[in-house]
Amino acid sequence: MTELCLNVYASQTLELLQSRRSGSAKRMTGPGPSPDQIRTLISCATRVPDHGKLTPWRFIIFADDARAKFGDTLVKALRSTEPEADAERIAQERNRLMRAPVVIAAISHVRSDLPIPEWEQTLSAGASCQTLCIAAHAMGFVANWITEWYSYSPVVREALSLKPQERIAGFIYIGNPAEQLVDRPRPAFESVAAYYPST
Ligand SMILES: Cc1cc2nc3c(=O)[nH]c(=O)nc-3n(C[C@H](O)[C@H](O)[C@H](O)COP(=O)(O)O)c2cc1C
Repeated sequence: MTELCLNVYASQTLELLQSRRSGSAKRMTGPGPSPDQIRTLISCATRVPDHGKLTPWRFIIFADDARAKFGDTLVKALRSTEPEADAERIAQERNRLMRAPVVIAAISHVRSDLPIPEWEQTLSAGASCQTLCIAAHAMGFVANWITEWYSYSPVVREALSLKPQERIAGFIYIGNPAEQLVDRPRPAFESVAAYYPST
């Protein structure tokens, strides 16, 4: 690869990173990533720093009918905590994953029997989620990394066969924006960064 090529890629990469923003799952439409694109997204998500090379994360992909099927689990989870939930609320949960054409659940898998701190394994899972979002952005999709209430539901945990050492890092909704995205202000350099030592 020539130096010119590398410079072009580098500047495009920086532009990509500086333009990433979420698109609300509530305002998504199709098409979503194809099976080949999903493979690429996951391949990107696996290239994160990983102290101890433990692969402390995995992904569960919801596409097509699987999104509606998972709606049954969400309704069951809802009923376990809100037995009086009305029809509107039930429909909301049944259709939750239908908001986007593809949803990927990122599962962090932390091992406590090793010298690698659990916190660092969790951070690696977070990095894989963020890389997934950036890769989706690079493909021209929008992504929304959300946990909402069901990431913490025991019913959902059981339905996804999570092991005790696993936690849901988030559900990443991926699709196209149904309406023009509005970005939010980003923190200024001075508000988040300072050279050491401070003066
Ligand atoms: C672990 C994690 C969980 C999140 N869960 C939610 C959520 O449940 N609901 C929500 O509105 N935003 C959630 N967010 C925030 C959104 O992903 C997003 O960052 C936020 O809407 C700001 O948009 P931006 O990514 O363009 O800055 C979560 C972020 C992280 C890192």
